Amino acid sequence: MTLVVENLSKSYGDTNVFSDISFALEKGEILCIRGKSGQGKTTLLRCLNNLETLDKGSIKINNRYLCKEVNGKVNYASQQELKVIRQDIGFVFQSFNLFPHMTVKENLLLAPKFLKKLSNDEIEKKADELILKLDLSTKSDNYPYQLSGGQKQRVAIARACMLSPSILCFDEPTSALDEETMGQISKIIKELAAQGIAIIIVTHDSAFVEEIGGKVITLKN
Ligand SMILES: Nc1ncnc2c1ncn2[C@@H]1O[C@H](COP(=O)(O)OP(=O)(O)OP(=O)(O)O)[C@@H](O)[C@H]1O
Ligand SMILES: [Mg+2]
Repeated sequence: MTLVVENLSKSYGDTNVFSDISFALEKGEILCIRGKSGQGKTTLLRCLNNLETLDKGSIKINNRYLCKEVNGKVNYASQQELKVIRQDIGFVFQSFNLFPHMTVKENLLLAPKFLKKLSNDEIEKKADELILKLDLSTKSDNYPYQLSGGQKQRVAIARACMLSPSILCFDEPTSALDEETMGQISKIIKELAAQGIAIIIVTHDSAFVEEIGGKVITLKN
């Protein structure tokens, strides 16, 4: 299994956001997570990406525990281990979170150059391939403010793919898109899944859920 989550629970103070969420995903599987506003969908993705800590539960990515519940306490992996495990999971944020002062290409290069897993030549080559694949060739030297919503989203996807994640999370990927752009994004996501990436999509777009297929989880109360 690429991802196994067991009994996840999270509260902010007295507000219980979600409890007892369990699911598993294999290579290339697509999971849609639905639920009304405020049900904790974004918080769940943030927990999976270690941007937020859990109160209960275990998360296992490619057989390594990001966190594991033992005797009611959640133990997180060491900073060193987290740095490695986190590279297996990517996040395309709802607002894309591109670095505004960097060009498209610079946005792609930043994290891999910092992590130094590949040589600079290999990183450049990979960025060029993703820019081509996501139809951004004419935008490579542009800044985020010069891009359309759909283009920014493709940059965010390309940037997330730079670290070759096994799992890619999308928060409301169609919320800012028209129907045609939605068609493009569903095609891109299906291609990523066909390459073996496990996909998690948070959405309340029923048409998109139907279009994309895969497993569906609905968060309630
Ligand atoms: N950092 C935080 N501190 C306190 N409460 C928070 C925090 N982040 C989220 N919450 C609360 O947790 C609940 C779940 O929020 P979350 O953003 O995960 O919902 P969501 O399902 O993504 O909603 P939407 O569909 O509107 O995006 C909400 O009640 C929200 O107010
Ligand atoms: Mg949300």
